[in-house]
Amino acid sequence: MLDPKLVSLLNKQINMEWYSAYLYLDIYSYYTDQSLNGFGNWFYIQTQEERDHALLFTHYLLNNSERVILQDVRAPQNHFEDFRTPANTAFEHEQQVTKSINSLYAVAYEIKDFRTMQFLDWFVKEQGEEEKNTEDIVKRYDLFGGEAKSLYLLDSELAARVYTPPTLVL
Ligand SMILES: [Fe+2]
Repeated sequence: MLDPKLVSLLNKQINMEWYSAYLYLDIYSYYTDQSLNGFGNWFYIQTQEERDHALLFTHYLLNNSERVILQDVRAPQNHFEDFRTPANTAFEHEQQVTKSINSLYAVAYEIKDFRTMQFLDWFVKEQGEEEKNTEDIVKRYDLFGGEAKSLYLLDSELAARVYTPPTLVL
């Protein structure tokens, strides 16, 4: 049995992960429509990762005999003014996700739920990577995005990203 407060927060986190998947699907769609297929590819893989996160939280609740309560997934904004905005939106969003994971962890810590803390450890590490990766895209865009040839090279680099399933298995 998990603490009811924690169950409610874990359910909320599932919704946030699906929203993340939805947001990145929107960003994938924007970049692909603009023929920046490499940026699109990067965010398509990001969509798959967020789906994986949602499923990991789902499995964790079910493995602890808790019911999963799915809520409406909010629609992402679908108007981006320039190529930089979607990447920066992703970076800002990841910082919010980190805050959410940290507050989940704080509750688990407070009630001495060591099992949930151990489960969340993977996400704490993962969030460090998510913030770093999205910030890198913004910074690299600021460095190279203003010139057609270097934007092309950056896009080609992002096209090389391949999906790998999460290392955490439940
Ligand atoms: Fe996530």
